[in-house]
Amino acid sequence: MELAYEEAGNREGPPLVLLHGFPLDRRQWAPQVGPLTEAGYRVVLPDLRGHGRSTTPDGIITMTQCALDVLALCDRLGLERFTLGGFSMGGYAALELARHAPDRLEGLLLADTRADPDTSDARAGRLNLARTVEAQGMAPLIEAMMPKFFTAATRQDRPDLVERVLGIMRTTKPHNAANALRGMADRRDQRDLLPRLDVATLVLVGAQDPLTDVAASRAMHERLPRSEFHVVEDAAHLAPMERPDDVNARLGRWLGTLHATA
Ligand code: MLT
Repeated sequence: MELAYEEAGNREGPPLVLLHGFPLDRRQWAPQVGPLTEAGYRVVLPDLRGHGRSTTPDGIITMTQCALDVLALCDRLGLERFTLGGFSMGGYAALELARHAPDRLEGLLLADTRADPDTSDARAGRLNLARTVEAQGMAPLIEAMMPKFFTAATRQDRPDLVERVLGIMRTTKPHNAANALRGMADRRDQRDLLPRLDVATLVLVGAQDPLTDVAASRAMHERLPRSEFHVVEDAAHLAPMERPDDVNARLGRWLGTLHATA
């Protein structure tokens, strides 16, 4: 299968491939696209399988398959080396891609994600949620996710942002969401990979992220040999959308150092 994707910016610029979270699609990166393209990057935004406009083969949406889909897309676009960013589920896929093809990476952004697998309770909860979504549709999932995506203040003060994200989540089909939940439940423990990943990495996390919390992010940062760490204040899980100014500034500085030394 071929992934749907969007491209923006300078075709000759350093390529940056950004992987969205669950149950979202490439549109989650909209607040990053302007500043990154203005800074001269070639920004590639795939829709992971089962999400956005990408087609959906039957069966579990594994993180390995997501990573291989992205690699195939990068091959198709002629991107030999690129900086890869992953938010949450996109980060699980990004770590899987880093395991398969570390030499392809110029840099790695890990935003609100984690390297450790689900605990047995988390896994059971996820599989249960997958069954609920199949039986009842996206509503219970959206209800469970929204308070984790944004802080209470943002949910109250920025209805436009909340609506935008609701709109994205509602386009994800329940059976695809269920299969992605099953894929995330089965994801590999990536902690062994981190110490040998010789790639410049930026680990970002919302200070109030309840899903992939600051402690998990810090632990990941401490295992990575070439990592920088940034906590985004006044943000929950969806920090790149909730606090784009802070995220874009930090990301821009980090990318600048990456390409200055490349
Ligand atoms: C995501 O934002 O991609 C998901 O919340 C990740 C997860 O459920 O582990």
